Amino acid sequence: MKNYLDTFNTLKTPFYWYDMDLLDRTLISVKQEADKYGFHVHYAVKANANLPILEKIREYGFGTDCVSGNEVLRSLEAGFKPKEIAFAGVGKTDEEIAIGIENDIFSFNVESIPELEVINEIAAKLGKSTNVSLRLNPNVAANTHEYITTGLNENKFGINMMDMEEVLKVLKTLSHIKLTGIHFHIGSQITDLNDFKKLCERINQIQDWFEEQDIKLEHINAGGGLGIDYQNPDENSVPDFASYFKIFAEHLKLRPNQQLHFELGRSIVGQCGSLLTKVLYVKKGVQKQFAIVDAGFTELIRPALYQAYHEIENISSTLPEEKYDVVGPICESTDFFRKDVTLAGTKRNDIIAIKSAGAYGQVMTSQYNLRTPVKAYYSDKQNK
Ligand code: LLP
Repeated sequence: MKNYLDTFNTLKTPFYWYDMDLLDRTLISVKQEADKYGFHVHYAVKANANLPILEKIREYGFGTDCVSGNEVLRSLEAGFKPKEIAFAGVGKTDEEIAIGIENDIFSFNVESIPELEVINEIAAKLGKSTNVSLRLNPNVAANTHEYITTGLNENKFGINMMDMEEVLKVLKTLSHIKLTGIHFHIGSQITDLNDFKKLCERINQIQDWFEEQDIKLEHINAGGGLGIDYQNPDENSVPDFASYFKIFAEHLKLRPNQQLHFELGRSIVGQCGSLLTKVLYVKKGVQKQFAIVDAGFTELIRPALYQAYHEIENISSTLPEEKYDVVGPICESTDFFRKDVTLAGTKRNDIIAIKSAGAYGQVMTSQYNLRTPVKAYYSDKQNK
């Protein structure tokens, strides 16, 4: 990143910087590993919805996973084919559902019986038919029988297996929707691949149940969740997609002609983005010193919201290292990026890089304190 220091010094901070070369390398790896098994990847637009990023992802032939009507429209704008767009979300509005139906998207990931009924009603009004996948609550015990017991946690996401018979009954009465698949998502930033093995085992059991009901599913959607290495972003800049997909290839029993889909967000874009910010002041406290920078949680909320760790580097300085609390200008005490960060000796106007911010960084910015919307620059473009 230091190679770009001259460019960075000409740009108004704070801004997001995207290493498009790294995005390419990441996409090459995802594609190569998914193609080995014929798996389909939908990029989770919620992680980063910038057009140049979406357009590059599209070039590799992936689809998208959207959670709002605007994400569906943005995907179309970036050139994704409607038949490769999945639309999830626990609270879709009528307008958003209509956008999906009118554009003949791949499938709605549906989370409740009322939602199935509303989708059917809107499809009927539009004189269309649409595909749905059922998002199943993964909080199920690893035993087929227990899926239909009442001891399961209520959860905002997904449909519980114990409600499945009712869902199938309702589905039979809905003539404008077709059940094509089932969908799961067990969480995000998962680094223990064994969790995905457990997911495979659950899906196998659930598939048996559907087979007993004589229902054929065209596709399984295993969601996203593969984590990235926030501690060592330079050493591990491309996640281990080979091991990830191999787990599913080895443990998930697909039925003949059944297709396996994924919704990866963070693992695709997380490492290619950094937040670049300038040091405004170095302030000496009683026991500490603070590097006060011109970005705050308005530009990257992950540390304040999830106590998330991001690597931080002073790319302007070659002075001996010292410790700093790296803090922002927002009038809230949670507005710090990390405490006791070891940085090269820091002074006013140095450029600080906060790394691994490509996913859930720029998309989660706000204008609190009337902050100026943050800009984005891309390594493969002329940046002025
Ligand atoms: N599919 C569904 C249904 C999801 O809810 C999510 C993420 C994904 C796919 C993509 O997951 P990924 O591959 O990116 O882990 N803002 C938080 C993360 C929220 C994740 C929400 N759902 C953060 O900054 O860590």
